[in-house]
Amino acid sequence: MSETNTYLIRVEPTKQSRLSQVDFNDLKFGQMMSDHMLVANYENGAWTDVSIVPYGDLSISPSMSALHYGQSIFEGIKGYKFPDGTVSIFRPDKNWERFNKSAARLQMPEVPEEIFMGGLKELLQVDQAWVPSAEGTSLYIRPFMFATEAALGVHPSASYKFVIITCPVGAYYSKPISLKVETYYTRAADGGVGFSKNAGNYALSLFPTQLANQEGYDQIMWTDAAEHKYIEEAGTANLIFRIGDTIITPHGDTILHGVTRRTIMELAEKWGFKAEQRKVSVQELIDGIKDGSVSEAFAAGTAATVTHISKIGFESKDYDLPPVEGREFSNKVLDYLNQLRYGKIEDPFGWNF
Ligand code: COI
Repeated sequence: MSETNTYLIRVEPTKQSRLSQVDFNDLKFGQMMSDHMLVANYENGAWTDVSIVPYGDLSISPSMSALHYGQSIFEGIKGYKFPDGTVSIFRPDKNWERFNKSAARLQMPEVPEEIFMGGLKELLQVDQAWVPSAEGTSLYIRPFMFATEAALGVHPSASYKFVIITCPVGAYYSKPISLKVETYYTRAADGGVGFSKNAGNYALSLFPTQLANQEGYDQIMWTDAAEHKYIEEAGTANLIFRIGDTIITPHGDTILHGVTRRTIMELAEKWGFKAEQRKVSVQELIDGIKDGSVSEAFAAGTAATVTHISKIGFESKDYDLPPVEGREFSNKVLDYLNQLRYGKIEDPFGWNF
């Protein structure tokens, strides 16, 4: 994290903390925001007014371009509390890098390290009491940026707002999930914006996901736009499979380059598994479930962490994955990541900030 702070961050503390309203024994995902937020404005080619202020409504123009043309991107990061009370953030540098890649693709300005990382550090100092400590809980951190120019012409906005809000959370998925292989709707095509974390990628998923829900599945397994043959990602997370002794994740610019996915693939290699990023066809997966070579399948993401997949629906048939208890790799990953992120073991990688 950069120690040089060329942006003076103004701090306006809340007069009335809402912390006492939080039931830390019953945390829902993303419902109760912490007391403060970081806000910065981009105007005339420069970032200004970086400030930490009480969480609250923002004032916007009805002609603000993000509302009409969708220049809007975000990140998801988690903060954890160590047994000694230290607050640690998991690999935020990777989210900062990805955020700026999303920004470039959507013709938005970069957010400098001092504002993204330095601002996050200061925000968590102010709201450190909001970081829960029980296993399975964390502080979910949501940095986002949107276009604020009040004008209806289609062009890159001249002004933007960068904001970080945070909220104490429990698990996003409380049990293993079922997936429906999507063979009609498409999330992303080559040359599109699938790799970026922009708001539109989530908006387009809502209708097909609702259809999958009506058929009894929790989420969608997205497939490629051209042929619907190759697996891409699941709902709001990446996908990882164990086929034989190889840990495999789909590859390419139509999928989000997840920080949790990357972390797990790095761990797989370190633990002596073969780790591959490559195309996986739906047929390979189904055949592997049938002959027993696919022993594990899970969704990986900041919110999802490691969420086991219980069954996969394809062409009106359901294929059950083996029982969760026997899934050696994904259970080991989950256990290791829990220990590492809650500061219960040494961090040999420098992933905890
Ligand atoms: C995350 O894992 O942070 C996500 O982006 C999922 C979120 C849309 C709930």
